[in-house]
Amino acid sequence: MKKLLILTASLLCTGNAWAMTPSNEPIQPILPAKITAPEKVELGKKLFFDPRLSRSGFISCNSCHNLSMGGSDNLQTSIGHNWQQGPINSPTVLNSSMNLAQFWDGRAATLKEQAAGPISNPGEMAFTHNLAVDTLRSIPQYREAFKQVYKVDKITIDEVTDAIAEFENSLVTPNSRFDRWLLGDQDAITQTELQGYKLFKDIGCTACHNGPAVGGNSFQKMGLVEAYKTDNPAEGVAGLTGKDADRFKFKVPTLRNVELTYPYFHDGAYWKLEESVDVMARLQLGRQLSGEDIDKITAFLKTLTGEQPSFTLPILPPSNNDTPRPKPFG
Ligand code: HEC
Ligand code: HEC
Repeated sequence: MKKLLILTASLLCTGNAWAMTPSNEPIQPILPAKITAPEKVELGKKLFFDPRLSRSGFISCNSCHNLSMGGSDNLQTSIGHNWQQGPINSPTVLNSSMNLAQFWDGRAATLKEQAAGPISNPGEMAFTHNLAVDTLRSIPQYREAFKQVYKVDKITIDEVTDAIAEFENSLVTPNSRFDRWLLGDQDAITQTELQGYKLFKDIGCTACHNGPAVGGNSFQKMGLVEAYKTDNPAEGVAGLTGKDADRFKFKVPTLRNVELTYPYFHDGAYWKLEESVDVMARLQLGRQLSGEDIDKITAFLKTLTGEQPSFTLPILPPSNNDTPRPKPFG
């Protein structure tokens, strides 16, 4: 009898989450990150927060993907080196490991490939990979850490981007109220939020926003039914392929934590979630929603805010006499 009880209990503990997930829902719960190399995650965390990967010594990945603010900067477009105006809205790094590719136009296939971009982008961190690596090489604690984790005597950009990507893989946000509802907790969301979810499905938002990240898994035209008006010159995927058919195709953003990642769309033109729901319904689906329905969908979207990554702020090893000096101006 005792054995049987233990058996049932263990079945409940291991099998329950998936057994109870309604398999016909277009959205699946986010699972906690599977960390296989915690030492890489720790090193990558330091690098993510280290402003010395930028020319100014002032801008880190966290400047534009602030983990205290949903992994974004909450600006219309980002501020880069020397206060340069960025060209496009900064997407969240939260759950970015679930994206089919990185950037609005998908021009980086992986997080590792992506991480090499901003360091040397003159409008972002404005450094060179060589100088970034020289900076790290000058600091004994970093040399030691890379040696331990990657078994290398000389740090290269390859290990730097690998560690950052491993850290980003850990930035998932499970256990949102909506996920708890998906896993069978009827009381995790309110009736209004549930009505919002039903509308979200019924009117067809889930055609593009689906899967565990509620997006991130396809490129779609912005302004399918009605054109999107913007001053932002971004062309989307067409900027890469030159094909007319790809004009204004962007990666469908994740709607996880969308309550935190304002302003919205690639040009950051909309600050109110209600307004972006209205824009989507009209432009993508040809639907004019009532204010009440917009509010319901917005209420549902706010149930997608998950547990934010939480950790001790990394303390970075100090620079020394050999470390290249930052150049914050010019
Ligand atoms: C100056 C601001 C800025 C800095 C610094 C910056 N980023 Fe970004 N990041 C952006 C912007 C803007 C985009 C979108 C660019 C695009 O799609 O063309 C972006 C895109 C991304 C994406 C893709 C997300 C997605 O959904 O497509 C990831 C991942 C990312 N950055 C990680 C990093 C990492 C890692 C660093 C540090 C090495 C970094 N960023 C530094 C502004 C910044
Ligand atoms: C045909 C595909 C498609 C459909 C249908 C669709 N979306 Fe989107 N959604 C997108 C794309 C593409 C973007 C990014 C557009 C851009 O930034 O220019 C987006 C962006 C968004 C954003 C802004 C997210 C951010 O971080 O900037 C929200 C919110 C959103 N959609 C909600 C909805 C809702 C609610 C519905 C249903 C009323 C819906 N979407 C229907 C493709 C779609």
